[in-house]
Amino acid sequence: MDQTANQAAFKAETMMAARLNKVPFSGIRKVLDAVTALQAKGVDVIKWQIGRPDFDTPEHIKRAAAEALLRGEVHYAPNLGIPSLRKAIGERTTLDTGIAVDGMKQVSVMAGANEGILVAMMAFVNPGDEVLVADPNWHHYKSIASLVGGVAVEVPTTEKDGFVLVPDEVERRITARTKMLCITSPGNPTGTAQTHESVKEFARIAIKNNLVVLADEIYARIWYGPGATAPSIYSLPGMAERTIIINGFTKTYAMDGWRLGWTVASEENTRALLKVRQYTTVCVNTFAQAGATVALTADQKCVDDMVAEFRRRRDIMLAGLRSIPGITVSEPLGAFYVFPNISSFGMSSADMSDYLIEKHAIATVAGSVFGAAGEGHLRMAYSCSTDECQRGIARLKTALEALKK
Ligand SMILES: Cc1ncc(COP(=O)(O)O)c(C=O)c1O
Repeated sequence: MDQTANQAAFKAETMMAARLNKVPFSGIRKVLDAVTALQAKGVDVIKWQIGRPDFDTPEHIKRAAAEALLRGEVHYAPNLGIPSLRKAIGERTTLDTGIAVDGMKQVSVMAGANEGILVAMMAFVNPGDEVLVADPNWHHYKSIASLVGGVAVEVPTTEKDGFVLVPDEVERRITARTKMLCITSPGNPTGTAQTHESVKEFARIAIKNNLVVLADEIYARIWYGPGATAPSIYSLPGMAERTIIINGFTKTYAMDGWRLGWTVASEENTRALLKVRQYTTVCVNTFAQAGATVALTADQKCVDDMVAEFRRRRDIMLAGLRSIPGITVSEPLGAFYVFPNISSFGMSSADMSDYLIEKHAIATVAGSVFGAAGEGHLRMAYSCSTDECQRGIARLKTALEALKK
């Protein structure tokens, strides 16, 4: 007898959860695929597309993880992370923010900052709650908010303001449903950082309206401004109880493939995060956490060296872009992105990005991928050698001159 006679055909698109219709595939994938195809043909691509350091993870960190693996640290870790790492993260956060953090009670080690964002939103965002996010911005906040049933409310920023979130614009969008304010400083795709004055204003707004603040500080130490790190909202009075810091090893220590990040929050909020995280990744890879502990506790010269190299590349990119007629670009204070305005060439950012990769093998990401306010711009990640930055600028000049003809 035919066992399938009475069974309906399985159609994936009708079976998938409705929430999937609310999120797109990442617009960056298209560029990554194009780069892979060109490289397979042996084409020399200028790789300005990727938001991760090109450096190898420093040797001493890799060795510590390898030794832990060989010692047999291969079993489940505590949900919140191994004690030595939580303690080290607590101490690092105290150093960076000036606020005493008890790593054993306030830190959760996550499988990348991205898991921290997912867990935080699952723990604090109810269906229908509004989450304020800057536009343009790293698109994950918006999509994760939608996946957990929340509503992302975009706050446009402008080139005139250097793409910083403006407190008045945030305040104007607050409703009875606003639950969370996301602040990414320094930001992706712009490299822009919030000032001390603006974070003070956000603290006032968050307290007045009883908001949770998700402070993504993953680029805080890749910082070219005054002081050791970008200003943190966590440092301000009344904010430790309502802020969840998102941070990680990906950018600062060139450890993106390790998938290691963290949250810092009050003890009570950390318990809420723990409740969710027990059911997401349970815990992070144990021997990788041993390597990460050494990343934070050993000499930080490797970080200083990487940041100094990023600064050299930023200066090359800025000077190079500013020498090209028709381009304007503001100075990024952190991260490893520049976000030039290419609107004078009369093409959309998506068309310009396609033109550059297809005709000149220059990989960039269209500003529109990061939100409507990013239109007219390209994100260029200078996570490639100074030589590649220089060759890229020369090639870009030729590509844009060809357009003017
Ligand atoms: C602002 C921001 N936060 C978080 C992440 C993700 O970090 P992780 O690799 O730790 O998940 C990125 C990666 O591009 C980012 O730009």
